[in-house]
Amino acid sequence: MTTSSGLIWEDDVADPILSVSNIETYYGPIAGIRGISLDVEAGRIVTVLGANGAGKTTLLKTISGAMDPQKGTVVFEGREIQKQSPDRIMRAGISHVPEGREVFPFLTVHENLIMGAYTRKDKAGIQDDMALVYDYFPLLEARSRQHAGQLSGGEQQMLAISRAMMSRPRLMLLDEPSLGLSPILVGQIFEIIQRLNREQETTILLVEQNARMALSVADYGYVLEVGRIVMEDTCDRLREKEDIKEFYLGMKEAGARGKRRWKKKKTWR
Ligand SMILES: Nc1ncnc2c1ncn2[C@@H]1O[C@H](COP(=O)(O)OP(=O)(O)OP(=O)(O)O)[C@@H](O)[C@H]1O
Ligand SMILES: [Mg+2]
Repeated sequence: MTTSSGLIWEDDVADPILSVSNIETYYGPIAGIRGISLDVEAGRIVTVLGANGAGKTTLLKTISGAMDPQKGTVVFEGREIQKQSPDRIMRAGISHVPEGREVFPFLTVHENLIMGAYTRKDKAGIQDDMALVYDYFPLLEARSRQHAGQLSGGEQQMLAISRAMMSRPRLMLLDEPSLGLSPILVGQIFEIIQRLNREQETTILLVEQNARMALSVADYGYVLEVGRIVMEDTCDRLREKEDIKEFYLGMKEAGARGKRRWKKKKTWR
């Protein structure tokens, strides 16, 4: 099987940096995710697609330690990390760009970036990474002394990604980075995600509702519905599936006009 990046994808992931097995996470009595298993191969971009409420954010929060699963395991680089503190998981090499950006509005851009490196002691390395961030996002350098709260939504998303870069993660979790951005900015953000993956060798787990963009940059994808994985495949193959075209890419089958195909029941249920 050949992926969009031209590499061979094995059915059994050869070298998973992250393995999630049967995790269940609850909000009190409400299940956010109901038994999810997935693998992320080192060096890849893997995407999780799903509608509102499917459990995408809960999945990322469970991996980054913001929520504890009731059941299941999360294995990162061969070690179980479920139920560890977010701080420890970040030190282990995972950084989480949360939904809705969540920058510190009353700190400057520069101070937000320093906060991203709080687990590190290597001053020279931090300086190097600050330079790297400003190379990726020159606009942030120009505004480094301004309060983050004064940035536009798109600029705040850039800052949130930059702050996550400052811990030098080997795995970055991105929760809907395109949300609320103009098409041009969405394109820019996805280019940066690909650069990070290619140039810094950061493995990416990308949660998105923007299926078109996500499927074009990722190697492999999972589809989440009501807390469960209902489909997985290479993104090349997912793009060709009728259900994906219809429900996630908003495309109808040629010749189906007038047949109300949009009312067709999803075949994976
Ligand atoms: N704080 C909360 N308290 C109770 N239930 C919650 C809470 N947050 C999420 N849920 C529920 O958990 C389920 C999964 O939510 P989650 O936020 O993970 O979905 P999502 O796929 O990220 O959705 P969206 O695309 O809207 O961000 C939903 O049924 C949701 O109602
Ligand atoms: Mg969400």
